[in-house]
Amino acid sequence: MDIAAAATVFTDPRAYADNERFHTATALLRRESPIHRVEHPNFNPFWAVTKHEDVMTISRASDIWINEPRPALGPKPKDADRENIPIRSLVQMDAPDHPVYRHVSADWFKPAGVRRLRDRIAELAKRFVDRMAEQGGECDFFADIVSHYPLYVILSLLGLPEEDFPRMLRLTQELFGADDEDLARNQDKQAQMQTLIDFFTYFQALIQERRANPTDDLGSVIANATIRDEQIGELEAAGYYTLIATAGHDTTSAALAGGLHALLESPGQWQRLVDDPSLVTSGVDEMIRWVSPVKQFMRTAREDTVVRGVELAAGESVLLSYPSANRDEDVFDNPNTFDVGRSPNRHVAFGFGAHYCLGTHLARLEGQALYAELVPRVRSIELAGTPEYMEALFVGGPKRLPIRYTMA
Ligand code: HEM
Repeated sequence: MDIAAAATVFTDPRAYADNERFHTATALLRRESPIHRVEHPNFNPFWAVTKHEDVMTISRASDIWINEPRPALGPKPKDADRENIPIRSLVQMDAPDHPVYRHVSADWFKPAGVRRLRDRIAELAKRFVDRMAEQGGECDFFADIVSHYPLYVILSLLGLPEEDFPRMLRLTQELFGADDEDLARNQDKQAQMQTLIDFFTYFQALIQERRANPTDDLGSVIANATIRDEQIGELEAAGYYTLIATAGHDTTSAALAGGLHALLESPGQWQRLVDDPSLVTSGVDEMIRWVSPVKQFMRTAREDTVVRGVELAAGESVLLSYPSANRDEDVFDNPNTFDVGRSPNRHVAFGFGAHYCLGTHLARLEGQALYAELVPRVRSIELAGTPEYMEALFVGGPKRLPIRYTMA
């Protein structure tokens, strides 16, 4: 593979479904061209940033590198049509708005806030492992189990009624699975707008309900938030719900499914969890590094600047490649080895800096609860077919993970 071929991985959703191709390509780019200009007829040009240190440096400098003009990579029409999308959320904001809006929910996501949900999460983890037991020894771990579990957690956090969960599941999958033909019920722009409108309509009703009858869930906190002494706008509140419902869902299910895939393919790693359950904590973090479910976010330079000796002009965009940074040989020993005991594990799968993922504690807790429940109940477990990964430019992981198992 030459550098030009390697650089195609960022614009080709199929590359993210082929882990070997992706990681071979980005290892080459890290070595030969770590800040690499990518041009493609369907995308506005950008620079792909593949080294861990550079992802951190750019993410840290939110005074120079901003989100609003181009938060994430999408094909040209999506970039150009962005202003038509009615919802503005944290990932599209910069200072001074961003810290003000982030503050609305930040407390809920701190360890103390998330601990309030510990029992509910453990109950949901048990429910989904029970479901696995009920499937009689074979299932698709992604489709049957972990594609539902994180959404249940996040919707519980927002305080939505359980009968609405299936509708939310469908809508989030439509939004994030849109690059994969199998999952794309939703490829044309009009259908994607419709999904956003469905989301918005649902959450608008929720905002009105929570304003009339405040409760003690995150849904109420957002609906009744005050921004600079004024009640939060409906668009902003709906944007907030949409971000949380989507960001908290496919990301975590991808990490948990890809994590099981890695456990089953890496000799001895499952057994290490059986022998030492305390490894679940570092094991879940390793799953998140390994899968790096969020493939990229972007930043745009507010002024001329230099990164690793490359001059970048004001208005140019960089793509922060988290999965590449998380295999950087300069930071990780044996980066291509899945090691449930990895320590330290300074991965950037949750990003870094002002936009650092709000859901880190929640995602980790969910993962730990699921594997703490699952591992002791399984007698034997193996792959029952070839796993397949999603073709998605933004958030991805397995879309099929057939397994065979016996349980206590
Ligand atoms: C932002 C990854 C789970 C909510 C982000 C970012 C990444 C990320 C890479 C952007 C960070 C940056 O720009 O520096 C992940 C991964 C997850 C996960 C890998 C699971 C393994 C969650 C969960 C929630 C959540 C469970 C809970 C609701 C958010 C929010 C933001 C965000 C609200 C926007 C923060 C901002 O712009 O200020 N996440 N996330 N995420 N994440 Fe997560």
